Formats: sequence, C-alpha cells, structure tokens
Amino acid sequence: MGRLSLTLCLTFLVMATVTFAVPPKKSVDVSFGRNYFPTWAFDHIKYLNGGSEVHLILDKYTGTGFQSKGSYLFGHFSMHIKMVPGDSAGTVTAFYLSSQSSEHDEIDFEFLGNRTGQPYILQTNVFTGGKGNREQRINLWFDPSKDYHSYSVLWNMYQIVFFVDDVPIRVFKNSKDIGVKFPFNQPMKIYSSLWNADDWATRGGLEKTNWANAPFVASYRGFHVDGCEASVKAKFCETQGKRWWDQKEFQDLDAQQYKRLKWVRQRYTVYNYCTDRVRFPVPPPECRRDRDI
Ligand SMILES: *[C@@H]1O[C@H](CO)[C@@H](O)[C@H](O)[C@H]1NC(C)=O
Repeated sequence: MGRLSLTLCLTFLVMATVTFAVPPKKSVDVSFGRNYFPTWAFDHIKYLNGGSEVHLILDKYTGTGFQSKGSYLFGHFSMHIKMVPGDSAGTVTAFYLSSQSSEHDEIDFEFLGNRTGQPYILQTNVFTGGKGNREQRINLWFDPSKDYHSYSVLWNMYQIVFFVDDVPIRVFKNSKDIGVKFPFNQPMKIYSSLWNADDWATRGGLEKTNWANAPFVASYRGFHVDGCEASVKAKFCETQGKRWWDQKEFQDLDAQQYKRLKWVRQRYTVYNYCTDRVRFPVPPPECRRDRDI
C-alpha cells in the first residue's frame, strides 16, 4: 500500500470510530399524564391528541403550571415548547429542574415574552445549595413562537449543559475543585409554568402585559423523561454512573459543540453575570471557566 492510501485508510478508520455526543432519539408521543401532573389552576391546562400535546393558558385571573411525578438524580431532560405568539410582553414561560430542600439546587430556562416582532429573551440560571444569581441572557436565532423547538438539560457528575435543539447554549462545569458547589446529592423534579411577570420581565418591567390579547397560550409536547429516578430524599440513585449520560462522550462537549456554543455566545449574548462588574466587582470563581469558552 502506498503512503497516501495508508493515510487515507487510517483517517477513515479514525473517523469511523469517533463517537458523537448525541443523545438517543426520544419519542415525542409520550403522553403528559405518564410523567407529569398539573400543579395549580387545573382548568387552565388543555389536553390535545390524548394528552400528547398540552396548552398552558394565562389570563388575567391566573397562569398555570405542571410538574413531574418523579424525582431524578442526573439525566437528560427535554421539552418541546412553542412559546406564546404575538404580543407576549410581560409573560414568562419557564422550564426548570428543582430540588425541594431549603438549600436547593435548580436549573432554569425562562423565556421572557416581548411585543409583536420584538425578540424573546431566554434567561438561564443555576442554583447550587440555595444560591443562584448566575443569570445569563440570550436572544434566539429563530422565533420560538412559530414552531416547536426542544429545550433540554444534560446533568451528570461532570457538567450541566443547556441545549436549544441540539445547540449547547450554556455549560456549567463541575467546579468543586475551585470551591463551587455542584448539584449531586439532591434529586430534582421537573417543572414548567406560564405566568404574568410584567413587574420585571419585559425591559425590566417597563412594558406591561396587554390583557386585551389574553388568553396567552404556550404549547408543549414530548413528555418523555430520561433520568435516574430516585426517592425525593435519596443521596444517589441505583444506576448512577452507568447510564448513557454518564458515559465519556457526555462528560465534556466535543469540538463541534464548543464551536457552536462559542457562536451562540458571540452572536446572541444579551447579558452574562460573569461580566457584570457592577454586581460582581470580583467575578464568582466559576466564571474563570466561563471565560475560557
Ligand atoms: C424586547 O425588545 C426590546 C426592543 O427590541 C429589547 O430591548 C428587549 O431586550 C426585548 N426583550 C425583552 C424580554 O424585553
């Protein structure tokens, strides 16, 4: 074999054995009732197609929300959501994971509505041991009220990654080595809600919800849950370290994912607590890792 063909052959072999960090495909047909139940204002949730799709409704009387039946320690949690269309200013749609204790852990997606034609803001936050104040805000590269998109969280011992469709938009690394708490021993439940937050959400509360446009509707699909189910008080779960999200390729982003993350950060960042010197004259320690991205 000539040197060139040997090189080609080796290149091909290497390419063929690289595994990409792509979560297994999930069925979008799992019904709401299998994994979730309404938390409040039951009459403001509408079930479609046998519960494989639900609508959350916000009017001037109330919003509504739902939560998972199970608690989970690590996993990959996703939801397909179509945000409130049109004039959604003042509304907030949230999808998050949270543990129950007073020193709770929490992983948040919050979608802040806007006037017709103005962009939504996606705010993310991470609480560890009851402490949050880690807000990052981005605009999206599409109109999230036009179609369903998936919003997911990968949570394992090594990292928490926020994804929009398959694009990583934020990584919170386990930085225990530099004194930052990381969620690892408190199971979390999954929550979602739609409510009125016109005291702060749109341009810091300047834009008020226009109730003439009510009811506001956010649509949901894809109620499959990929997590290690544990009792609320468990400190670990039985299959910990053995599931797909624990494997090597999910312990860090791959080069392609880092590239996409950089693209999002450079083009779509609206706010990052790590660069807010007014709030944090000395940036929190985990920001050292945020800066490296
Ligand atoms: C709404 O649109 C305005 C004007 O384009 C923008 O400044 C703001 O960040 C947008 N998002 C929210 C949630 O206010």
